[in-house]
Amino acid sequence: MLRRLLTLLAVAFLGLAAAQSQIEIFSWWAGDEGPALEALIERYEEMYPGVEVINATVTGGSGVNARAVLKTRMLGGDPPDAFQVHAGQELIGTWVVADRMEDLTFLYEEMGWFEKYPQGLIEAMSTEDGIWSVPVNIHRSNVLWYVPANLEGWGITAPDSWAEFLTICPAIQAEGVTPLAVGENWTQQHLWESVALGVLGADDYDKLWTAELPFTDPKAMEVWDVFGEVLACTNDDAAGLSWQQATDMVVGGSAAFNIMGDWAAGYMSTTLGLEPGVGYGWAASPGTDGVFMWLSDAFGLPQGIQNRENTLNWLRLVGSAEGQDIFNPLKGSIAPHLESDLSLYNAYLQSTAADWQSNRVVGSLVHGAAAKEAFMSDFATVLEIYLATGSAMNAANAAQAIATQVGLGQ
Ligand code: GAL
Repeated sequence: MLRRLLTLLAVAFLGLAAAQSQIEIFSWWAGDEGPALEALIERYEEMYPGVEVINATVTGGSGVNARAVLKTRMLGGDPPDAFQVHAGQELIGTWVVADRMEDLTFLYEEMGWFEKYPQGLIEAMSTEDGIWSVPVNIHRSNVLWYVPANLEGWGITAPDSWAEFLTICPAIQAEGVTPLAVGENWTQQHLWESVALGVLGADDYDKLWTAELPFTDPKAMEVWDVFGEVLACTNDDAAGLSWQQATDMVVGGSAAFNIMGDWAAGYMSTTLGLEPGVGYGWAASPGTDGVFMWLSDAFGLPQGIQNRENTLNWLRLVGSAEGQDIFNPLKGSIAPHLESDLSLYNAYLQSTAADWQSNRVVGSLVHGAAAKEAFMSDFATVLEIYLATGSAMNAANAAQAIATQVGLGQ
């Protein structure tokens, strides 16, 4: 009897120990977007065989659904151990100001990371009170994608400016081809930020986020006018398409161009098996050559999690050159870690790594680098207002009202 009781106790204890040795990693890298994260998790499992990894994904490009689930969990006192978040304002403006994250200064010191990442990135992830995330990658938002052989067949080249794009748009339409493929709401916002950068230039684009250039300024209103003309060169079924489906239109030849972050390169190389430079080509989005609109996926350390030690080990891997060189070649992004081995990366990624070094750098609105999450998420409504009314004035007024309400730039 006693032996039975002891056995039961031992089993219960082991069960408890097993339950303790878990880590839940929460992200929107589901399905097609999964391979890079899965490879990194595989490495983690090799390093920490006793830890059970729960790969919790919520489908939906750019985190449109995942962020809502995360909010419910954070506010309900049930934070995932580790969650994907954009480095910079998205995390700081929401979860750092709400005092839900741990300062990671101790980890940066332990790992020597203050010397291993670009200074500008360290600053973007920090406040006066600490540093709040560990970046796994650098993605570029302002990229124009196409299939070189198709452009040749239609007798066109990648446009250098929006004016040039608008000039070739009718000729492409005459071929029965959509000039520019777009998808659901957030992908149109993604197009908007590239149009804004192309129309305003880097200095004025930056001033939108510091509130030095009001959205109602004539220069900022012009962005909506150009955006409207560009939208007239896009597919009618946009609202129902994911970003992958918009990319598929280009790959399949029913569209000439698409503007998307370079996770599209990851999709085309890793999932579709296309060779960069042959199966797909790229250029800076029109009018933005020499400017790199960045964003970074990162993980932080939420306060009050169940598995803090396992999560710290996850962060150590995420932030290492080794971990980043497993993740990024599959993801279509480059490593922020300065000791990354570029020979492991394909031709697209090598060219974007060179641009990251030499270009002027500005932050992405839609992917959390430029503005507080409160502004970023309400920008979807601004776009809806524009789509419903076609009025630059209405969109500008709405954007300005939100900017004032959330204290953009403060
Ligand atoms: C971005 C994210 C990328 C990619 C993309 C599409 O916000 O930073 O890593 O996942 O969304 O879902």
